[in-house]
Order: sequence, then C-alpha cells, then structure tokens
Amino acid sequence: MSVHIRTVTADDHPEIFRLVKQAFTGDLAQAFDESRPRLDDGRRLVAEADGRIVGHVGVWPLGHWLGGRRVPTGGVSAVAIDPAWRGRGVGTRLLREALDAMATRGEALATLFPLTRAVYRRLGWEIAGERPDWRLATSALAALPAAADVEVVPGTADDVDDLHALETRLAERTHGMLARGEVFARRALDPGDDHALYLARRAGELVGYVVYAHRRADEPGELFTLRVRELVATDGGAERALWRLLGSHASGTRTVAAVGPPTHPLELELPERALQPAPVTWRWMSRVVDLAGAVAQRGWSPAATCRVDLEVDDPLLAANAGRWRLEVTGGRGTLTRGGDASVRLDVGAAATLLTGWADPVTLARAGRIAADDPADLAALTTALAGPTPWTRDFF
Ligand SMILES: CC(C)(COP(=O)(O)OP(=O)(O)OC[C@H]1O[C@@H](n2cnc3c(N)ncnc32)[C@H](O)[C@@H]1OP(=O)(O)O)[C@@H](O)C(=O)NCCC(=O)NCCS
Repeated sequence: MSVHIRTVTADDHPEIFRLVKQAFTGDLAQAFDESRPRLDDGRRLVAEADGRIVGHVGVWPLGHWLGGRRVPTGGVSAVAIDPAWRGRGVGTRLLREALDAMATRGEALATLFPLTRAVYRRLGWEIAGERPDWRLATSALAALPAAADVEVVPGTADDVDDLHALETRLAERTHGMLARGEVFARRALDPGDDHALYLARRAGELVGYVVYAHRRADEPGELFTLRVRELVATDGGAERALWRLLGSHASGTRTVAAVGPPTHPLELELPERALQPAPVTWRWMSRVVDLAGAVAQRGWSPAATCRVDLEVDDPLLAANAGRWRLEVTGGRGTLTRGGDASVRLDVGAAATLLTGWADPVTLARAGRIAADDPADLAALTTALAGPTPWTRDFF
C-alpha cells in the first residue's frame, strides 16, 4: 500500500491526537495538543495510507546559542508512527522530508530528544548536548548563606514577558541553550494554576526567578517532592536566594528536583551527596541540515585561527557531503568547497563537533573522525573549545 507524505490540515488534528497518544501517553498528547495551535500546520507532516493518518512529525522554529551566536534550528517533536505501520520505513520517509523542509526554511540544525537513538543515528543525528536533571537535598539548600541585598517576592503571569527577556539575555551566553521563542517561553514561565512563581529583585531590578510545583513524593514518609520547572538568576547571590526559598520547604520534603548545568555551581559549595544526578538524564541529538550555514552562524573561539581540510560523509543530504576547507579567524568560521580531505568524518560527528558535545579526540577514539595529521585535530579542538552544551527545555 502506498504512503503519501503531506503537510497537516485542520481536519487532521483529532487523528494526530490519537496517533501521538498511541506513541507516548495521554498526558503528552494533551500537552502537545494544547500547544498545537501555535505550531504552524506547515511545519508538521503526516504520512497517509489508505485515507488514514499513520505517521506524524512536527518541527518547532527554534535556535541554539552556540559560541554566543544563534544558529537557526528545527526542533523535531512528536515523531509518531501507528503501531501497525512501524518498521516499514514510514518514520524514515517522514524525517527525510522534514529535513528537506528545514533546509528550505534555512534551519541549519535539527534537534530532538530521542526515545531511541538507533533510528536517528542511522539518519545522521548524533548526541549533541545535555539536559542534566539534579536532585538536591532541601535541608542543604536551607543552609545556604543569605544575600542581604536580594529580596524574593511572589510573581504572577503578568511577569512572564520580563522573565522571558531575562532568560533570553542569559541564554545567549550559555553554550547550547535554546533560543526558545514565545511558545516555549510561555510554556516554561507561566505558572498557571499548579505552579508557584517567585522573583528575586535587587534594588528593584529583576535578577532571577524560580517556577516550581509540588509533586507526589518519590519516597515513603515524604509529604511531597518539589519539581523546579526553571530557576534562572543573573549571579550567585540571586541564585542562592532562590535556592534558599526552595530550602524553606525542608519540613515537607527531603528532595528538590531541578534541571541545571552539567557543571553545577552548587557542587562547589554543598556538602557531599547534597547534589546528585537523577537516575535518568536526557541528552539531545542534532543533525546538520546545512553544514556551511551552521559553521558560518555559530560563534568560534575568538583566540583561534586555523585552516583545516575536511571530507564529510553524508549519504542523505548531498549539499553537506564532500570536500570542504574550514577557516576560523576572529571568532568566525567559513566553509568553502575544496581542500585535500586530510580530516574525514561522518555527518553525525560533524553535528556533535559543531555543538561542542564530543571533542575531536573523543570522536577519533570512537572511529568517527580520522586525520592524517594529529595537529589538525588539535586545531579543531582549540577552535571549538567551550563548556558542555546544555539546555533547560524539553520537547
Ligand atoms: C521510532 C519510530 C518513530 C520509528 O519509525 P518507523 O516507521 O517504525 O521506522 P522505520 O521503519 O523507518 O525504521 C527505520 C530503522 O530503524 C529501526 N527501528 C525502528 N524503530 C526502532 C526502535 N524503536 N528502536 C531501534 N530501532 C528501530 C528499524 O528497524 C529500521 O531499521 P532497518 O531499516 O535496519 O530495519 C516508530 O517506531 C514509533 O512511532 N515508535 C513509538 C514512538 C517513538 O518512540 N517515537 C520516537 C520519539 S523520539
């Protein structure tokens, strides 16, 4: 039976809801359905067979902040195939067409949070960043030093625009962070009915915020667990003031759950075992949609100057494949056609190099990059050096 891929129309929405519920859970289908009116139907594809919808993919308009510059990124979401149609190539076709559409729109990277890595790796995606989830001891947070110049006050949904502006300003300087846009910002920041929002102010100026909710306790004898949706602060004093507010819940819970940076500042001041990684932590995968575009749009180490010849293997997107000369100078990178292919890599390795998750030496050990001259790998390492990329958002 032939499968036809097309963009979504308004009539498709109930069928897509059924499909997403089958693939994930009713809660996730509900959440996706609620944000759906803000995801342009032209950014969503369905696979149709015999008049029925058997597959779906949506692509959010996002960006990654890499080296202080925004790289336009398609956020691939709700990839769902009807169980009766799985393993028959429908997912592969949907993703290929979604990549073509991203290339046409000028998105240089495609990012997703994989439930299964194998499907995406074979299509050129690779692990490219983290979303670390931490467990913090509430009593240790309560014992953090107070900052006398920071006051913490309740916030409301009316503060969301100010919070979004603050988060954007800080995200720009945080390697890997999503340029999340309005829809994701409101989803993360609006406290709604079941979240609390508190603001940190210094001399009347907004210097941080925390959005969190009480969740059912993970452990016996606990009244509740605190799940932080987002804690953002301009500096250590503001951040400690917000953690102390969470610490004030120590009589009800021993644990606070919060997504935070891979190198967590609290690890440098809390006692041992007061900050632990969650048992499961998500990593995101990225695919290069437009290699030359991604190189030109990300920021590179301002101190680095190098010229490295590359040969990229990309069986899916011909525009990325072949020989390139990479030149980095003054914090900018350019790719031009040519060179002698002295460094050879696959397109998945190129993705994780560009976001800075895996470094060239690690990729060489994994057999994903080969160089005639080790000095080329050292030059790439210097040009791409930076903190581990991470993001708060999940989609
Ligand atoms: C994962 C999913 C989207 C893949 O779509 P699909 O149409 O079944 O995939 P394809 O038929 O195009 O398969 C592509 C390849 O991946 C393999 N594959 C498919 N699903 C897989 C899985 N869950 N784990 C590992 N490999 C898988 C297939 O065997 C195939 O490899 P092959 O060609 O060597 O046989 C689909 O199975 C699905 O909807 N699963 C439930 C929801 C889900 O997990 N979504 C992904 C969220 S990130």
